[in-house]
Amino acid sequence: MKDQQKDVRLVKSAGSMPRYAIYCILIGLTGVIITFIALSHELGKPLVKRKGIELKSNLIPASRPVPANAWKAPAENTIPAGKAGDAIRYGRELLAHTAKYFGPKGTIAVISNGMNCQNCHLDAGKKIFGNNYASFISSYPKRSNRSGRITLPAERITECFERSLAAIKTPDTSGKEIKAMLAYMSWLGQNVKKGQNLFGNATEKLAFMNHAADPVKGKSVFLAKCQKCHGVSGEGLLAADKVTYIYPPLWGKHSYNDGAGMYRLINFAGFVKNNMPYGSTYQNPQLTDEEAWNVSAFVNSQPRPHKDQRMDWNDLKKKPIDFPFGPYLDTFSEKQHKYGPYKPIKEAQKALIDKKS
Ligand code: HEC
Ligand code: HEC
Repeated sequence: MKDQQKDVRLVKSAGSMPRYAIYCILIGLTGVIITFIALSHELGKPLVKRKGIELKSNLIPASRPVPANAWKAPAENTIPAGKAGDAIRYGRELLAHTAKYFGPKGTIAVISNGMNCQNCHLDAGKKIFGNNYASFISSYPKRSNRSGRITLPAERITECFERSLAAIKTPDTSGKEIKAMLAYMSWLGQNVKKGQNLFGNATEKLAFMNHAADPVKGKSVFLAKCQKCHGVSGEGLLAADKVTYIYPPLWGKHSYNDGAGMYRLINFAGFVKNNMPYGSTYQNPQLTDEEAWNVSAFVNSQPRPHKDQRMDWNDLKKKPIDFPFGPYLDTFSEKQHKYGPYKPIKEAQKALIDKKS
C-alpha cells in the first residue's frame, strides 16, 4: 500500500516537470549518442591505421613500401632443362635441405649441426633482406676482410659450413655438391652486375641506436615473440624424423658457433627485423628496430659452440665493429663491440683508417 502511494507521487512529480527541461534532456541524450557512435567507429578501426596509439609493450612498426626496382629472384620455371638445369636444381635442394645430406643423420656425410642453409638464407636465398645470395657470385672472388686472402666462392660456402653449421669437416670444394650450390647461386644472381647497388640485397643495415642493445629487455621480446617456435631454451624443434628442424635452434650445442655471421649483432638485428617472427617481411615488419636490437642481444648472450678464432682478422682495421672478441685497434671494450653503442666505435675506426691511409 505504501509503495503504491510512492509510485503515484513519482508520476505526479514527473508530470509537473516543465516542458523545456524535458527538451533539454532529449537534446543532451542525442549528443551523447552521436559522440558514442563516432567514437566506436574510430575504435573499431584496425590498430595499425589508428594514429597516436602506442601500446607500450607492443609497438606496431610502420609498414614500408618496397621500391619497384628492388631485387627479384628469377622465376624457378626458367631453370633450364637438361644437365645444367639438373645441377641448379640439385644445388637448390642441398641449400634448402642441408641437414638431410650433411646433418647428424646425413646421407652424404655426417659433418654439420642439423641446420639448413635455408634456415638463415630464407626461401633458398631468394627473399629480399632475407640474407639472400643476390650479389654473392658477382662479387667473388674477393679479398676476405677476415683472412686477408683472395677467397673463391667455393671457399666462402665452406666458411658458412664451419661457422653457421658448426661443421667438423667441410665438403670438398671441387666436389659435386659445392659445384651444384654454386650453379644455383650463379643462376640466382644472373642479372646482378659486380658492385651494383641493389635494394633488398643480403640483410638490411638498421640505423644504430644511441645506446647499447639490452639483453634483459630482449628476453621479454624473446618470450613474447620467439619462444613459441624456437623453444624456451632456444633449442628449436626437431621434426618427427629427427633429421631436420621444424624450428631451428637459436642457441645451445646445435646452433651456429660464435664465429658465425649471425653472432654479430648488426647481421642478426637486420635479419630478425625483416624476417622474424616467421612470416615478417621488409614491407610488414613485426618488431621495432629497438626490439630487433634487444632480442639479438639476448639471443647472442646465450651459450653456443665456440670456434677458435685466433687466426682470424690479421688486419685489425678490417675487423667488423660488432665483432665481440678482441684485440681491437681502438680502446672500446669487448662488451661495447658486442652490444653497442656503435656510433663512437664507427667514428673511431674511420678516424684510424683516415690517419693510416
Ligand atoms: C645461422 C645462420 C646461417 C646459416 C645456417 C648459413 N649461413 Fe651463410 N651467412 C649467414 C650470414 C649472417 C651471412 C652474412 C655474413 C657477413 O656478412 O658477415 C652469410 C653469408 C653467406 C655467404 C656470402 C654471401 C655474400 O653475398 O657475400 C654465402 C655464400 C653463404 N652464407 C652460404 C651459406 C651456405 C651454402 C650455407 C649452408 C651450408 C649457409 N650459408 C648457412 C648466416 C648463415
Ligand atoms: C612462427 C614460428 C616462428 C617464430 C614466432 C619465430 N621464428 Fe625464427 N624461425 C622460424 C623458422 C621456421 C625458421 C627457419 C626458416 C626456414 O628454414 O625457412 C626461423 C629461423 C630463425 C633464425 C635463423 C636460423 C637460426 O636458428 O639461427 C633466427 C636467427 C630466428 N629465426 C630468430 C627469431 C627471433 C629472434 C624470433 C622472435 C623475434 C623468431 N625467430 C620468431 C620460425 C619462427
